[in-house]
Amino acid sequence: MYTKVLSEQCIACGLCQLKAPDIFEYDEDGIAYVKLDNNLGTKDIPLPLLAQFKDAYTACPTGAIVRSEVPFPKDNKK
Ligand code: F3S
Repeated sequence: MYTKVLSEQCIACGLCQLKAPDIFEYDEDGIAYVKLDNNLGTKDIPLPLLAQFKDAYTACPTGAIVRSEVPFPKDNKK
């Protein structure tokens, strides 16, 4: 499973980092990004982190967290 945050949809609510501190981090503006791969969506989420990923994914109020079974295209960072 691959994931990234659509920064323009993130309202910096903070839930994803609370639910999945090993996956999500905030930039200087409080906008979340995936720290596994600097929000590229190209690194497979390690199996032990999938439970916390799902918690964060379902908790995000704006749908800013997107996921895919295949890596995201590299030219489509955010
Ligand atoms: Fe942003 Fe959603 Fe996380 S609004 S801070 S990506 S829970």
